[in-house]
Order: sequence, then structure tokens, then C-alpha cells
Amino acid sequence: MSLRTTLYRTALRWQASVTLSAVGSDGSIGAVLLANALWKTVTNEMTAEERSWIERIESLRHTLAASNAQVQMLNYGTIAPDQNIPEERLATGQLVTRQIGDLARHSSQPFFNSFLQFRLIREFRPVACLELGTSLGLSTAYQAAALLCNDNGGHLTSLEGAGELAKLSRTHLQGLGLRNASVVEGRFQDTLSDVISTHHCFAWVSKDAQHTERATIGFFETILPHLDNPAILVFDDINWSQQMRRAWSTIKADRRVSIAVDLRRTGICLLDTGIRHKRPIRFPVVGEWLPYQPRSGRGRL
Ligand SMILES: C[S@@+](CC[C@H](N)C(=O)[O-])C[C@H]1O[C@@H](n2cnc3c(N)ncnc32)[C@H](O)[C@@H]1O
Repeated sequence: MSLRTTLYRTALRWQASVTLSAVGSDGSIGAVLLANALWKTVTNEMTAEERSWIERIESLRHTLAASNAQVQMLNYGTIAPDQNIPEERLATGQLVTRQIGDLARHSSQPFFNSFLQFRLIREFRPVACLELGTSLGLSTAYQAAALLCNDNGGHLTSLEGAGELAKLSRTHLQGLGLRNASVVEGRFQDTLSDVISTHHCFAWVSKDAQHTERATIGFFETILPHLDNPAILVFDDINWSQQMRRAWSTIKADRRVSIAVDLRRTGICLLDTGIRHKRPIRFPVVGEWLPYQPRSGRGRL
């Protein structure tokens, strides 16, 4: 590694530690847990048990990324940023053919974002969890593995509109031995209210689908009355399009959000009535380029 890269990483790491002490200095348990999760994410901290899960999931990602197999699916989401597809057309779905390798490489969240979710779940130890957008089940596997490591009976319900992907993701979760995640097939418009009325209250919610302003804010308003205290909400692709930037601005400014952390690709909201001073935080680390280093002990920034 060049001297320039080493210095850059050291500076970022220093910036991260300053920001994190600001997050944690609030003193509330939620803020401290959030700071711990972020710090352990940027330092790649993991126990032997966690490492073993992560290596297995990354090995599955590797296999899927190399696959040329094709899948025909009904897609209810947006494919490109700021597409002006009318909501009614999105709602009926578009029949598309996608290569599994392409989905694993471009549609699934990369290692850093999945690991971030893993670390947040390990710190907050939520029990009832919800994910919107399963795809091949890679982010689902990370969340379910973290819940298993917590060993407190946590369960993840993940929603997926494309039937073929729902089937594949179930096979992947089963292959990994993750029985604490269930995939519900169908459009969110048809499945979400039933899932909410079954579980009543969620302490963890991640949304990685339907990247329009209207759908994102609509989902935020729908899920708010069904959140535990504290609760974590994770939004992926907050900078993907103008619409997502506007949605994230609205969400992070909402008075019910105690701390909003902007990681450029991912936005994390902590809702915790124990926190008196609401704060938006822009975290200085660009996570995507942090490499996954399965055999190297702690990672580097
Ligand atoms: C970006 S992918 C999810 C990736 C996954 N979280 C991961 O990291 O492995 C989004 C998924 O949401 C699904 N989706 C989009 N809009 C939907 C809707 N309205 N109802 C149900 N599923 C939807 C798509 O079929 C797609 O598989």
C-alpha cells in the first residue's frame, strides 16, 4: 500500500473516531450502541463465530456472482435512478430476465453494508425484524446470522415480490442453516399490512427496494406506529437518485428520528425516546471501498 493511501486511511479513521465519540457522548444507551456498531464496522471487528458465518455467506456470494444462470422475474421496483415510470405501471410489474451473477454483483448489498447491518443487529439485539427486498437473500443471511449469534430468539421476516427470487433466497438460507428468517412472497403493497398485523412491533427494519420518494416516505409513515423503543431503521441507496435524496432529507429531518447517520449509500435512523437532542450525523467514511478481509484479523480503513 502506498504512503498516500496509508495516510488517507489514517485520516479517515481519525475522523471516524471523532464522529463516533460525538454519537456516543449523548450518553443514552441507544447512542452508545450505535457508536459501538459503527466503530466495529469500520474496524472489521468480529469474533471467531461471527467470522465463520461471514465467510460462509461471502462464499455463497462468490458462487452466485460467478453464475451465468438466468432467472425470469416480475420486477416491481425501479431499475434506473429517477425513471419516470408511473406508479400504476410499477405496481403491475415488468417481466425481466436477469443473470444470477449480475444480481449478486449489482443488486445485492456489498460486504460493507451487509456487515454494517450485522454489527447493528449484534449491538441492538432486536427480536422482531423486518426487511423489504430479499433478492437472492444475501443481506437477509447477514441479518439472520447476526440474530442467531445473539441467541435471544430473534426472527427476520423478509419481503420479496419476485417469486423466483423468493424461492432461490429460501434455498440459500436453508443451505446456510438459517431457519430464523422467513421470506414472504408478494408485492409489499399486498403483503406488508398482514406482516405488520402478525408481528405488531419491530425493533429492526431495513428497506432496500422500491427506490422512489413516494414509496420510501410512504413506507416510513406506515412503519412508524409499529416500532419498538428503541428501534433502528436502515435505508439503502439514499443517494441513488434525486428522489431518494429528497426522501432521505425528509426522513432525517423528522422529529421522531433521534439520530440519523448518513453513510452516503446507507442511512441509519435511531428512534429512541431516551435521546433528547435530535441529531443528523454525516459519517466521514465511504464504506464501499473497505475490503472484506476474511483471514486478516482486524480490517483496515
Ligand atoms: C435491491 S434488491 C434487494 C437486495 C437484497 N437486500 C440484498 O442486499 O441481497 C430489491 C428487491 O426488492 C424487490 N422489490 C422491489 N419492489 C418491490 C415491491 N413493490 N414489492 C415486492 N418486492 C419488491 C425486487 O424484486 C428486488 O429483488
